[in-house]
Amino acid sequence: MPSEWDKERKFEIEKVHPMYLITALCVVPFGVYFLLNFLSPLIHRLTAMTISEIYVYPIKSLRGVKVKEALGTAHGFKHDRTFMLLRITPEGPVPMAVSKQPEMTQFLQEIHGYNDADGSLRVTFRAFGNAEAEKSLTIPLTPDPSSLEATEITLHSSATRALQMPQSYNDWFTSCFGYAVQLIYIGAHTRAVLFDDMQPREPSPLTRFLRAPLPFTTRSIASAIGLRPTSPQRIAFADCAPFLVVSQTSVDDVSSRLPAGHAMDVTKFRPNIVVQGALDAYQEDYWGVLSINNSLDVVLAHNCVRCASVNVDYETGRPGKGELGDVLKKLQEDRRIDVGARWSPVFGRYSFWGVGRGDEVVRVGDRVNVKKVNDGLSIFSWPGLS
Ligand SMILES: *[C@@H]1O[C@H](CO)[C@@H](O)[C@H](O)[C@H]1NC(C)=O
Repeated sequence: MPSEWDKERKFEIEKVHPMYLITALCVVPFGVYFLLNFLSPLIHRLTAMTISEIYVYPIKSLRGVKVKEALGTAHGFKHDRTFMLLRITPEGPVPMAVSKQPEMTQFLQEIHGYNDADGSLRVTFRAFGNAEAEKSLTIPLTPDPSSLEATEITLHSSATRALQMPQSYNDWFTSCFGYAVQLIYIGAHTRAVLFDDMQPREPSPLTRFLRAPLPFTTRSIASAIGLRPTSPQRIAFADCAPFLVVSQTSVDDVSSRLPAGHAMDVTKFRPNIVVQGALDAYQEDYWGVLSINNSLDVVLAHNCVRCASVNVDYETGRPGKGELGDVLKKLQEDRRIDVGARWSPVFGRYSFWGVGRGDEVVRVGDRVNVKKVNDGLSIFSWPGLS
């Protein structure tokens, strides 16, 4: 039997109950919101990924140079793909690539004085393991352009002026390859990025109005509401973008597809930045923006679609044998995810510096957070390349 006191208390609780409810409804969401806001830097710290490897490739398509740090610019890392080899054919000079000339993997590159004005690049021809035929060449990393003759070259439909390196370098490479080649240097020139959805559009009247000489804040509004940046992206001899970002978790997934005891050589994917610590393989397909050190934004705009170069055996400089030479097919099973390049598997993301960012030193160990996740997959749109 409830006592009188119990009855009274019950009555009181029933009376104040709606008050509790209203208070809870108002306070709890705010409390949770503020708590999460308070904890989020901490959560970010704990879940952050890191840059595990950085690569530059001074001469495009030769072996990469692994570095501890590199100077990132809007056009890519300093000294990345600033040189390119051309094969001299009856139809004229043609850009060379590992997929067509797997023997390019027999050339190791070494940088001496990355930050020095008189830094140099040492190239060693491994001669397919024939130690007697092995030889080296030293090339200035930053040749004096005034002494070099200009030329025009088109790589993946994107043309540029470039500079012809002295004939002695061509002779050395020609003697290694066994067919006529030419070495060119990009100098101060750059190539346009041709991704369809990154092209500047004819400005609409609204854009013109917003771009008129008005205060900076109006421009910010213009970019906030999604109007395109005014300056198109430009690159050196990298295929499609200043940076290629890959995830180590995805590299590990590829390794798991190889026979036991074999690991996928990440350099076959020719990344600039390797990020480690992603929870799942291929999360990067949806990454829109990464933030390095919570300060530098890197925009992951497109998928990197793959060709037979991932099958090449870097030891022999020939198409790989057995399952190790079948990486492309293994990826084709489930990685053909880009409707803009239906037949090619995707691995890695073509990336760009955040708009308006200047040069920044990027280091191995730098913290990386996913700042924006895209709703859907990006669609490859480089004309004539897939
Ligand atoms: C990130 O922070 C480290 C340590 O302070 C610094 O050395 C590095 O240059 C920074 N990287 C970028 C891209 O800001």
